[in-house]
Amino acid sequence: MKLGTIGTSWITESFIEASKDSQLLTLTAVYSRNAETAKAFAAKHDAPIYYSNIEELATSSEVEVVYIASPNSLHYEQTILLMKNKKHVICEKPIFSTTKELDHAFKIAEENGVYLFEAIRNYHSPNFTILKENLKKIGQIRSANLHYLQYSSKYDSFLSGENPNVFSPEFSGGALVDLGVYPLYIAIGLFGKPTSVNYTPVKLRTGIDGSGTLVLNYENFTCSIQCSKISQSYIESEISGEVGSFVLDKPSPLSKITFIHHKTKQAESLEVNQVQNDMLYEIKNITQIIRQSNQAEYENLRELSKLVLTVTETARKQSGIIFGVEKN
Ligand SMILES: NC(=O)c1ccc[n+]([C@@H]2O[C@H](COP(=O)([O-])OP(=O)(O)OC[C@H]3O[C@@H](n4cnc5c(N)ncnc54)[C@H](OP(=O)(O)O)[C@@H]3O)[C@@H](O)[C@H]2O)c1
Repeated sequence: MKLGTIGTSWITESFIEASKDSQLLTLTAVYSRNAETAKAFAAKHDAPIYYSNIEELATSSEVEVVYIASPNSLHYEQTILLMKNKKHVICEKPIFSTTKELDHAFKIAEENGVYLFEAIRNYHSPNFTILKENLKKIGQIRSANLHYLQYSSKYDSFLSGENPNVFSPEFSGGALVDLGVYPLYIAIGLFGKPTSVNYTPVKLRTGIDGSGTLVLNYENFTCSIQCSKISQSYIESEISGEVGSFVLDKPSPLSKITFIHHKTKQAESLEVNQVQNDMLYEIKNITQIIRQSNQAEYENLRELSKLVLTVTETARKQSGIIFGVEKN
């Protein structure tokens, strides 16, 4: 399929590399707000066409699917424009700012006969499937502690008075929607919808969460998720049951899964070696769904995006984190 891209940062480069590796998507066009940036980015990645007008990207006959890696608050409008022009969309996490946007976007996708996906790399990885298939091994789940704490390369500029998009409510930033979504996808992918949620954020001067602890309550256990863009963690995540535990190196990439039996203390490595650029897996799954019109799998992913966004939206509202798009 012919691929167009929005965004010119490292993550778009990573997606383009994974597309090349996959041999399933062929980069035909790139878009940047700035024509010089678009031209240079196209040259660097051998894209035959570049655009600095998003309407031209949307109406291009040389593009079938668009990968969006723009600041979060722009995802919705860009997605709608593309889908109204019959383009499939792979939109970076967090897919949208609100569930209202999400519901409307999936309706537009349906009306236009196109697919809309949230790009969430860990969920599509082989090791997540392994974890899910082995979940019964640990017996009745009694607790889960998942964390993703990564000191942001943009935090120093925030501290010196600048306002990077990822720390801005106007761009729908914050730790929960930026990093918390990875463990949240694991939790909801494994345990389903929680009965209730509670979020305790550490807020920054812009009003968004620099870090926070999200508690997901389930009938027989709680899952606690810690996320941070202003500190770093070195400990592993764990899902603990009555029979044994899974120890995970981190929620993304999910490269190590160790099962430990509580009574025998025997440890077993369950993971497989994944490719370095694990965006390959989301590309494979997504292109297969489109090619095979696999409605069941598509609806499963759509439901997951909705559940994850419902949780982050509820958590934000509980703690007074309001995005710019919600103020209008
Ligand atoms: N899957 C992953 O592992 C992963 C990793 C990192 C980020 N992400 C996601 O990818 C998306 C982009 O993240 P990022 O850190 O790359 O964001 P970013 O650097 O703030 O912006 C990404 C791109 O959007 C354009 N842009 C920047 N500011 C803009 C503005 N004010 N108005 C319009 N366009 C603007 C820029 O492209 P031009 O100037 O060329 O138009 C830029 O290259 C986010 O949704 C993020 O959550 C995912």
